[in-house]
Amino acid sequence: MEPILQVKNISKEFPGVKALTDVSIDFYPGEVHTLVGENGAGKSTLIKIISGVYIPTSGQIFYEGKEMHFTAPGQAIDAGIAVIHQELSIAKDLTVAQNVWLGREKRKKNGLLDSARMNKETQDILDFMKVKLKATEIAGYLNAAQQQMIEIAKVISQNAKIVVMDEPTSSLSEHEIDALFEQVRILKEKNVSIIYITHRLKELTEICERVTVLRDGCKVDTMMVADVTEKQIVSSMVGREMGDYYNKHKHTQGKEMLRVEGLCRKGVFENISFTAYAGEILGFSGLVGAGRTEVMEAIFGAARLDAGKIYLEGQEVQLSNPREAIAHNIGFVTEDRRRTGLLLEKNIVENTSLPSLPAHKKALGFVNRAWEKEMANLYMEKLRVKAPNMYTILKTLSGGNQQKVILGKWLAADSNILILDEPTRGIDVNARSEFYALMNEFVENGGTIIMISSEMPEIIGVADRVIVMREGRISGEVTAEEINEQTLIGLASITSDAS
Ligand SMILES: Nc1ncnc2c1ncn2[C@@H]1O[C@H](COP(=O)(O)OP(=O)(O)OP(=O)(O)O)[C@@H](O)[C@H]1O
Ligand SMILES: [Mg+2]
Repeated sequence: MEPILQVKNISKEFPGVKALTDVSIDFYPGEVHTLVGENGAGKSTLIKIISGVYIPTSGQIFYEGKEMHFTAPGQAIDAGIAVIHQELSIAKDLTVAQNVWLGREKRKKNGLLDSARMNKETQDILDFMKVKLKATEIAGYLNAAQQQMIEIAKVISQNAKIVVMDEPTSSLSEHEIDALFEQVRILKEKNVSIIYITHRLKELTEICERVTVLRDGCKVDTMMVADVTEKQIVSSMVGREMGDYYNKHKHTQGKEMLRVEGLCRKGVFENISFTAYAGEILGFSGLVGAGRTEVMEAIFGAARLDAGKIYLEGQEVQLSNPREAIAHNIGFVTEDRRRTGLLLEKNIVENTSLPSLPAHKKALGFVNRAWEKEMANLYMEKLRVKAPNMYTILKTLSGGNQQKVILGKWLAADSNILILDEPTRGIDVNARSEFYALMNEFVENGGTIIMISSEMPEIIGVADRVIVMREGRISGEVTAEEINEQTLIGLASITSDAS
């Protein structure tokens, strides 16, 4: 079989960073070829080169045997290379169909937009994908999983020969991942070559044929998935043997920290009551869209509540905005880092100190620079943030490293209660184990963690107790002894409805 795409001796340098060094890989049609590696290993940079976003410092790209010199993304798309980037690029105020055809709009003979045709073709694609979405829906009202389906519809509409997916499953729940894999299989049958990036290694055996490991910008090896174990892949990623990275601790429940009663927001969630104690990691499980994020946003004062009461250490409080929640020492790691988590134009120090500033102002409102630097340094080290230094601007960090900075800033903020919404999304195995260790340390020092995770093994691996939500309600609570995949899936799925 001839490779459809070859990258040869590709290197890419940014000021102060060698993102890729002399990488050569062959990609074949009808195959899923996965790139794995730790945060900052160079995966996204490589696919940005393949798709014409970046120009390599040196090296060549051969597509169907011919050397290509892409200097803009449009050229790659025209050649049949489509990309779903790590950060979704959906225009929220446009419809599904407008997003699918954005920049390639279909026009009538008279030059006017042919909306009817675009809607029709989009609907055909959505139906073919068997997703329940309307072409005319506004994208901004859809959740992350549905927005991703728009990206896939777009790729199908482009009739791409190569489809690149950068961490497509990081925002999806198990159930939605199955739906995505169904799409991947359909693309494979059409002999499309898929370049896939993921931190979830168990996905490899499900859909991938080949895997290439990158470490510090260099290619370690390309292997057939059937010939290697997950353990072998992990050790070649991190360059050493890895133990059990959850390292689950048994914690003892302390005093009541947060209690909510009858929280309700019309049409989103209702009758939400639960208590979280000091010294525990309380997991929130469920399918994406079950309302977990919305509940936490409301508790944090970031979204409206129609009814219900919130108690902190037994005292009723009104948290009408995040500033008040932060003043009560509540921290919130948001699921969508682009939207609410970070100041992308600012550096690591500024981002780390952000929620703590009110507590660390010196006289006359001047910021305590020494403290700022110490915190940034501490959490960069603890979470292994890969960046030239602490003054690196956030947007130049790799996706996973941006997420680490979010985690660091809330750990630095001296929170008592930390709400983590899919906190390890896009974080590599090594940093994950560091992060779980920090979570354990946090609750063992008397803190409370509420963690939303759609990743079943993660909930099972770290939570002391789990609340499961389904369609805006709590469908069950699971104690430490009962936490297993079957129980959680049973409570989360709509099909197992007992009421
Ligand atoms: N535009 C840029 N300017 C400066 N440095 C950059 C830029 N883009 C990427 N880098 C750096 O290049 C290196 C590789 O980043 P890349 O985004 O390719 O990593 P990745 O393997 O995709 O990581 P992740 O798993 O976290 O997404 C990182 O050190 C990153 O900070
Ligand atoms: Mg990346």
